[in-house]
Amino acid sequence: MVLFMQLKHSLIAGEWYQGAQHFAVINPANAHVLEEVSEVDEEGVNQSLSAAKDAFVQLKNTSAAQRSQILYRWYELVIKEKESLAKLLTQEQGKPLKEALGEVEYAAGFILWFAEQAKRNYGEIIPANDDEHQLRTIKQGVGVVLGITPWNFPLAMITRKVAPAYAAGCSFLLKPSEQTPLSALALAKLALMAGMQKGVFQVLLTSDSAGLIKPLCENPDIRKLTFTGSTKVGATLLSQCAGTIKRTSMELGGNAPFIIFESANIDHAITGLMAAKFRNAGQTCVAANRILIQQNIEQTVLDGLQKQVAQLVVGDGLAEDVDIGPLITVEAKQKAQKLVDDAIAQGAQVVYEGKKLDGHFMAPVILKGVTADMKIAQQEVFAPVVSVMSFSDETQALSIANGVNEGLAAYFYSQDVSQIHRVSSALEYGMVGINEGMVSNPVAPFGGVKRSGLGREGAHQGLDEYLEIKYLCQKFD
Ligand code: SIN
Repeated sequence: MVLFMQLKHSLIAGEWYQGAQHFAVINPANAHVLEEVSEVDEEGVNQSLSAAKDAFVQLKNTSAAQRSQILYRWYELVIKEKESLAKLLTQEQGKPLKEALGEVEYAAGFILWFAEQAKRNYGEIIPANDDEHQLRTIKQGVGVVLGITPWNFPLAMITRKVAPAYAAGCSFLLKPSEQTPLSALALAKLALMAGMQKGVFQVLLTSDSAGLIKPLCENPDIRKLTFTGSTKVGATLLSQCAGTIKRTSMELGGNAPFIIFESANIDHAITGLMAAKFRNAGQTCVAANRILIQQNIEQTVLDGLQKQVAQLVVGDGLAEDVDIGPLITVEAKQKAQKLVDDAIAQGAQVVYEGKKLDGHFMAPVILKGVTADMKIAQQEVFAPVVSVMSFSDETQALSIANGVNEGLAAYFYSQDVSQIHRVSSALEYGMVGINEGMVSNPVAPFGGVKRSGLGREGAHQGLDEYLEIKYLCQKFD
């Protein structure tokens, strides 16, 4: 932990930049101030822009092999420091330590993947349509990138953007969530130690997100925006980027259906649902948000589910055996409770509700009789609430599942091979878990359709997001 003590300032051009104003980082488990960090000011932002532009030019003189080596070193340092990183993450974000350790490995997995992919940034030779030309393509880094990352995965959402950007030869300005800046600073410190050149990866701290981001989105020197967050904010950012025709990657909100068909293995479906619902206390974009259960097996599923949910331990993520940590803010808990109350007022029934808890803690709730017109089925709950809807047949299940504006992740459980083919193809989602409640993986493309976003992260597609294709037409001379 000593390595990460005293991290409280923005990182600009390889130096810690101290601003005059401060804001507090709160531990959501006890509402205590974990650290006071300094706000970046205008002078700092200007310095970071100029350092990022210089760094992009210098990166052009590095080879893919050199960048790959530095990414490998960064990966090794993250793994070496995994216990300290996980503890810091739990303290500022709240998730149980075992999940935080899982996130460190997940985050490191993106660095490792892109250390390998950096060396595979191939161009093409295009068979020419005459004998006078050679036609080929090369791929080059898009330029200076601005990244905006959320609080729910304070490490992994950063590495899955910064690692491919660096592999592609781009410099990166990061605005981490004001709720979880410490993990971002720790990652940046390790990147510096790994040998990432000054100005290549900079971190700008602010509690005034809109004030910092709007001018950056409008700045022509920034060639790409990558954002993970809500659909509403994503739409605003897209409009701010429109004037300078920036490349954008948007990983936005979800509203995942989790369908259990009568042909499913029910025990496996419950295990998958527990993972898809309760990871990070339900605070993930891919969390199962609407649980669709075929009518004739509904009671059996609910009985099995209730038994497992009743065993979940809610508490400070640093305590042993805790399964569900605090929600990020009291407002987040109030918002979720309001959705539950609204659903009950509209006719949903409570199947299970744990003891009411103080502070940021929310005990799990299971509701049944939820319908598509209820608010709880129309927005991300981001809390440990299981909203069960029932359906009679596959056509109705698909109509409910696809009947929303979002299309990030969907899950279904079935052992009927023909049904698996039909449903996989019919679901309007970017990612589908089939008899699996956990799809996230650095080697696979993460992203959504409809209002859930643009582009993909991870996988080989994740590198393309930071590359421009240049076509070279050479006449034999
Ligand atoms: C997210 O909630 O935005 C990301 C979740 C994941 O990568 O699994």
